[in-house]
Amino acid sequence: MTREASRLEFLGEMAGGLAHEVKNPLSTMRLQLELMQEDFRADPASTIARRNLPKIEQLLKETRRLEEIVHEFLKVARGHDLKLAALDLAHFLEELVEFVRPEAERAGVTLRLSLRNDLGTPLIDENYMHRALLNLVQNAVAACVPKGGGDVIVEAGRDHKAIGIAVIDTGVGIAEGARERIFRAYFTTKPGGTGMGLPMAKRIIEEHGGYITFDTLEGQGTRFMILLPARADEGLSQIVLHGEREERPAIDPKEVTAQVNAVLSSGDQAIRKKKGKK
Ligand SMILES: Nc1ncnc2c1ncn2[C@@H]1O[C@H](COP(=O)(O)OP(=O)(O)OP(=O)(O)O)[C@@H](O)[C@H]1O
Ligand SMILES: [Mg+2]
Repeated sequence: MTREASRLEFLGEMAGGLAHEVKNPLSTMRLQLELMQEDFRADPASTIARRNLPKIEQLLKETRRLEEIVHEFLKVARGHDLKLAALDLAHFLEELVEFVRPEAERAGVTLRLSLRNDLGTPLIDENYMHRALLNLVQNAVAACVPKGGGDVIVEAGRDHKAIGIAVIDTGVGIAEGARERIFRAYFTTKPGGTGMGLPMAKRIIEEHGGYITFDTLEGQGTRFMILLPARADEGLSQIVLHGEREERPAIDPKEVTAQVNAVLSSGDQAIRKKKGKK
């Protein structure tokens, strides 16, 4: 291991330990605050309640936010227990897009799903994959907001060995100086953002044995690409992976881009063939 890598590993362990130490006192603080809040609510008209309830509510809000941050941190640090089960991926993506649609419409964003071919029923942890992709689609919509609207397209296709998913937006793009940092914990350019969305999504996709990368053009838009193994999904009802990353060779992000493009365009060919047959 290089010196840098072992330093990072050490820092990671320290941070994990710190988060654990912070977690219990925080939940004690929240519980005590909730009790105080209850007491004051018993007599909300009293001067002392009127003066202190808003303060307690503020403290509770901040405490809950800190708890949420620690909770998310520990989840990413520890890794998730994935329950892989056969998932109707096309249906899953349709639901995801419908889930974000109201938010997209409010932002003046046209949201589209483009399925290149039959995606089958790969083994996926539905809950975690939902979180990962939801963050990508919500990020894409948010990137269009400063432009007063735009387009977001979710594309997906499959060939014999891989599934490719792309989330494309016509938003503001990612500034050069931010590109290296977007997958880092707590990096955010949004007021109220946690900066945990992308590190979490990356972790989840890697735990599925997959890869994620992106292309972006400042002012023009961004394209996030995901490559997942199209593993055999017959005869296996469920596999549980305990917080471990799957064996997956490191590949160059350019290679991920090339493979996602290949999967999505082989889907195109399949569609063309199908149409040709008619
Ligand atoms: N599609 C995109 N276009 C432009 N910038 C993006 C895009 N996706 C992510 N980013 C940038 O990466 C940052 C980190 O994204 P991430 O999802 O990790 O956190 P967040 O979206 O800021 O917060 P949260 O996910 O909690 O709402 C964003 O704040 C934004 O600056
Ligand atoms: Mg996000």
